[in-house]
Amino acid sequence: MMKLFIYGFREDERLYFENSKAQYQFTYDVCYEKATLTNAHLAAGYDCISILSTPFPKALIEAFVHLGITYISTRTVGYDHIDIEAAKALGMHVGNVTYAPEGVAEYTMMLMLMALRKMKLILASMAVQDYSFDGVRGSNLNEKTIGIIGCGNIAQALIRLLSGFNCRILVYSRTEKAAMKPYATFCRFAQIVNESDVISLHLPLSQETHHLINRDAFQKMKQGVTIINTSRGALIDSMALIEAIENGKVGAAALDVVEQETGVYYHDCKARILKQREIALLNSYPNVIMTPHLAWLSEESISEMVLHSIQSCYHYMHGEPNPWQIC
Ligand code: COI
Repeated sequence: MMKLFIYGFREDERLYFENSKAQYQFTYDVCYEKATLTNAHLAAGYDCISILSTPFPKALIEAFVHLGITYISTRTVGYDHIDIEAAKALGMHVGNVTYAPEGVAEYTMMLMLMALRKMKLILASMAVQDYSFDGVRGSNLNEKTIGIIGCGNIAQALIRLLSGFNCRILVYSRTEKAAMKPYATFCRFAQIVNESDVISLHLPLSQETHHLINRDAFQKMKQGVTIINTSRGALIDSMALIEAIENGKVGAAALDVVEQETGVYYHDCKARILKQREIALLNSYPNVIMTPHLAWLSEESISEMVLHSIQSCYHYMHGEPNPWQIC
């Protein structure tokens, strides 16, 4: 019987763990906190650990290697929080999960419309009984040029949603996806940056994509461009975004992720003096909608995150082909 130890466990995941126990023959114990050097010992005697998107540097991997853990499954699509090179060097195996891309795509669609229709200001005005037209005139998606950066599963689901809005859709991707050609035009990064009214980011974070949207990129964008980010915060240089908002180049932004979010998002910070000034500044602007990395948080996504993490550990333990194993 496989033994799993679950870090960053939430009660809303329990049902899905319980429902799979019989089929995948495992027992599990949990820790509500993220994995750290202090609580790593809790996983002694288990076969695999399952984690969330909290930092997993070399020292932490080493700690689990010493405890005899050989497989880390992150219940997330992205795995930029894990030092994969260190894992490889230490002989630790790592896997991610997948979940239906429609959840994040729908959330992105919602943020895009909210940003264009100035929904942050409308809701804030409603809360103080300001029913005037002041500052709340929005714009339509119809006939706009939407630039999608990346063409993975989430981007493709978003393109399918956008195809109902009568926009011109441009996509930048290393590989052209035939299924998207009826809806979107594949083009160079520079064309997206120059021609888009709305730019939505859908790339994993890596050394190559870090600060892809920087001062230089903002300079080349259309005046008043709308920026949407539901993938990883560090794709955008936050300071460059702040400048571009302050000088009017960026007319609106909707950010579910932000470069400085680790240690802030998923915590109640209301009594804290935030050192992550970029978050405080961006959140203060009336034309910037921010949500704390929640695009994934739907019932459907959570059930798949848990199930696929269990299945991934099961495949690993049974030496079976494992579609989620990264190394
Ligand atoms: C991912 O699955 O990569 C996410 O971004 C969601 C995670 C933070 C729970």
